[in-house]
Amino acid sequence: MLVNYLLPALAVVGSAAAQNGCTFSSTVTISNQAEATKIASCKTVKGSVLIDTGAAGAIDISGPKEITGDLKVLNNGLIETFSSTSLTTIGGDFTLRNVTVVSSIQFASLKSVQSLSLQTCLRLKTLELGPLTQADEIIISDTSLEKVDSIDLATTKRMDINNNRQLTTFTSKLGSLSDSFNLNSNGIGSGLTVTLPNLEWIANMTIANVTKFDVPSLKVVNGSARFDSNFFESFRAPNLTHTESGDISFVGNSKLANLTFPVLKTIGGGLLIANNTKLEELNAFKNLRTVRGAIKLRGSFDDVDFSSLNEVNGAFDISSTADITKVCDNIQELSSDGGNGKIAGTYTCTSENEKANDDTDSTTSGSGSVDGGKDKPNGAAGFALNSALLGLVAIAAFASAF
Ligand SMILES: *[C@@H]1O[C@H](CO)[C@@H](O)[C@H](O)[C@H]1NC(C)=O
Ligand SMILES: *[C@@H]1O[C@H](CO)[C@@H](O)[C@H](O)[C@H]1NC(C)=O
Ligand SMILES: *[C@@H]1O[C@H](CO)[C@@H](O)[C@H](O)[C@H]1NC(C)=O
Ligand SMILES: *[C@@H]1O[C@H](CO)[C@@H](O)[C@H](O)[C@H]1NC(C)=O
Ligand SMILES: *[C@@H]1O[C@H](CO)[C@@H](O)[C@H](O)[C@H]1NC(C)=O
Ligand SMILES: *[C@@H]1O[C@H](CO)[C@@H](O)[C@H](O)[C@H]1NC(C)=O
Ligand SMILES: *[C@@H]1O[C@H](CO)[C@@H](O)[C@H](O)[C@H]1NC(C)=O
Repeated sequence: MLVNYLLPALAVVGSAAAQNGCTFSSTVTISNQAEATKIASCKTVKGSVLIDTGAAGAIDISGPKEITGDLKVLNNGLIETFSSTSLTTIGGDFTLRNVTVVSSIQFASLKSVQSLSLQTCLRLKTLELGPLTQADEIIISDTSLEKVDSIDLATTKRMDINNNRQLTTFTSKLGSLSDSFNLNSNGIGSGLTVTLPNLEWIANMTIANVTKFDVPSLKVVNGSARFDSNFFESFRAPNLTHTESGDISFVGNSKLANLTFPVLKTIGGGLLIANNTKLEELNAFKNLRTVRGAIKLRGSFDDVDFSSLNEVNGAFDISSTADITKVCDNIQELSSDGGNGKIAGTYTCTSENEKANDDTDSTTSGSGSVDGGKDKPNGAAGFALNSALLGLVAIAAFASAF
């Protein structure tokens, strides 16, 4: 099939009359509605289809059920509506990028694509798909879509939904996602309400500017979960037991007052909580036992509960605008400097620090950073150093006990 793409000139192989499969060399370009007849009689278009920058008004490509390659519209300021009633499958990428006046995409039979990418389609209001039940990747950015509920995937690899000013709700039956999930800057003014009732595991997620993030079934985060600049007052992950290799971070969630992780036992990376100024109590992690990276807490909290903590491989660095001298003393008991050594890295605690909320990066004042360079537990060097330190302190503690 790829061989067909190697021939430079456009050539329809076989007769142009009604046929099951039309094989195109390279890409078929459609410049206006009349040219859509190039493919209208093909059941399967073997090749890719490009809608030209000069195509205008309503473009309908009904006829084919399948396009084995890509279907693309790029840098077009003239198309108003784009549709097909017959197309069920696009083997490659379905892409509209910088299609500035298109207001409606109606592909009512479309169920499967490799990827769907709608970028800079500022007037796009209507998206009607099969619904779409199979796609490895979804990118939707800079559109006027109010809903994306015709995307109905049980699983996917990558999803990136950003800068859709009118998008205020996102509800999906998504059960798992194996690469990355990014949400930010949707629903300008009101934020985005996200409901993912079936989501059980997710590789990496970066969630910003959402009003609600509901994940009642989430059990595992394989990589990292980051929540920045959200508008929710509370966040809970009632079923989350661990992150396999990455961090959990909450930074600059200005209304967040209640954080709940009742069954979280292990964080494979680090934990960063910073500049969530309404969060007065940090008791979300009272069942947390193991943190393979570092812990950094910055805020205006006056109470901190890490009563199950048994092992921190990196540093533990706390600072609050409030008086946390008691907290400092309690956690000191876990330190490697006079405590039982459960915290292998450097322990630092500062009470009544006016500037506690100004420090939101992932570097700790002890050893290395919370994320230690993306997904590794506190950076390889820091990790080794801390393990060695843990060893020494353990021996010292043992010796002094006799
Ligand atoms: C977007 O498309 C328009 C034509 O509609 C073109 O003039 C412009 O250069 C394109 N912008 C980018 C960033 O490619
Ligand atoms: C994520 O973790 C779940 C549960 O342990 C596992 O089934 C899944 O294969 C993991 N996914 C990736 C991408 O590592
Ligand atoms: C946790 O997940 C189970 C299914 O595994 C579900 O029955 C339960 O309702 C979930 N908990 C919450 C608080 O939603
Ligand atoms: C999460 O993202 C990091 C950084 O991009 C990457 O190294 C890691 O493999 C991802 N984790 C998973 C489980 O996909
Ligand atoms: C949205 O989130 C981004 C990333 O954290 C942040 O820079 C931006 O200020 C937020 N926007 C609003 C309106 O909160
Ligand atoms: C925080 O949320 C938990 C679980 O959703 C709830 O039980 C608790 O009452 C809330 N606490 C406050 C102070 O709102
Ligand atoms: C802390 O959050 C507030 C919003 O609540 C924001 O204005 C400020 O810039 C943030 N500070 C830092 C250092 O990110």
